[in-house]
Amino acid sequence: MEEYEVEAAPERLLADLKAGLSQDQKSIPPKWFYDEVGSKLFEDITRLPEYYPTEAERGILLSNAGAMVSATNSNTLVELGAGISDKTTALIDAMTEANGQLPWYVPFDISADAIVTGAERLAARYPGINIHGIAGDFDLHLGHIGGEGRRMIALLGGTIGNYPPEPRQKLLRTIAGTMKPEDSFLLGTDLVKDPARLVAAYDDSAGVTAEFNRNVINVIAATLGIDISAEQFAHRAIWNPDEEWIEIYLDALENVQFDLDGQEVRIDKGEAVLTEISAKFTVARLEQNLADAGMQLAETWTDGDFMVSLSTAG
Ligand code: SAH
Ligand code: AVI
Repeated sequence: MEEYEVEAAPERLLADLKAGLSQDQKSIPPKWFYDEVGSKLFEDITRLPEYYPTEAERGILLSNAGAMVSATNSNTLVELGAGISDKTTALIDAMTEANGQLPWYVPFDISADAIVTGAERLAARYPGINIHGIAGDFDLHLGHIGGEGRRMIALLGGTIGNYPPEPRQKLLRTIAGTMKPEDSFLLGTDLVKDPARLVAAYDDSAGVTAEFNRNVINVIAATLGIDISAEQFAHRAIWNPDEEWIEIYLDALENVQFDLDGQEVRIDKGEAVLTEISAKFTVARLEQNLADAGMQLAETWTDGDFMVSLSTAG
C-alpha cells in the first residue's frame, strides 16, 4: 500500500484547526473524524436503523451494477473514500462477470486502517485480486491515483455531500482533470427528503452519531497532545432548509480554552463548532455541479431516497 504524507497529518490537522477555529463560525473539517475509532464508529452508523443511505445505495448497486459496468466497459475500479470497501463487492462482481477476470482495485482513503481492513476482506473473498491501496487525502493527493485500463472512479456513500459548494466544485474539477476519455465517474448522492427522517439519520436514538462526532475531539487531543475532552461537548444535528443540507455541531458544555502552537483558542460555553455538513441533492443540482466541473451526467439510478450516477469528462 502506498502512503502519502500520512506522517504530516499532525501539521495538516494543526493548520486546519488554526484556520477553522479562528472564524466567527468555528469549524473542524470532517476528514478528521476517521481515525481507527472513528472509522469503526462510521461502520456502526451504517448499521443503524435510522441511517438509510448505506442500505439504499447497496440496493441500487446490487440491482444495477451490471448496467453500470456494461455502460462503461470498465476493468479497473478506483474508489475514493472507500472506507472498508463494503458495498464495493457489487461492482467487483459485475466487472468480473463482464470481463471474465477480476478487476484491478484501487481503494483510496485517508484512513489506512480502513483500507487494510477492506483489502483483507476482499482478498479473502476474491483470491488473486490485485489491490493497490492508497492512504492519502483526496484534497491533496488525487494526482497519485494511477490505475491502468478503463477506470471507473467511484465516490460512494454520499461523501461528496460532506463538501460545501466551493470545495465540492474544486474536488469534482480535480477528479475530472484526472480522467481519460475511457474513464467514468460513479457518484453516490443522498437525495433531499423529509427533514424529520434526515435529522433522525444524523441524531440516532442509540447515540452512535453523537459518539462519532465527539470522537473528533479525541483525535485532536491525541494527535496534537491538547488537553481537551469529548465530555466537554454535546452533539447536535439540524436541517438547513435554505442550503438543503444537514449540519452537525459540537456544542461546548463549558468554556474550553487551549493553545494551538501559539494561537489561543477559546470556545465559550454554549458556542457551537460546525463539524460537518451533509448536502442532499436533486438531479438538477447534481447535473449543475457536474457540468460546472466539466463533466456530463450520463445516467442515474435511484430508489427515491438515494441516487447513483454515471458521468464522463472532457
Ligand atoms: N464509501 C464508504 C465510506 C464512506 S465514509 C461508504 O459508502 O460507506 C467517508 C470515507 O471517506 C471514510 O472512509 C473517510 O476516511 C474517507 N475520507 C473522508 N475525507 C477524506 C479525504 N479528504 N481524503 C481521503 N479520504 C477521505
Ligand atoms: C461519509 N458521509 C457521507 C456521512 C454522511 O452521511 O454525511 C458521514 C456521516 N456523518 C454523520 N453520519 C454519517
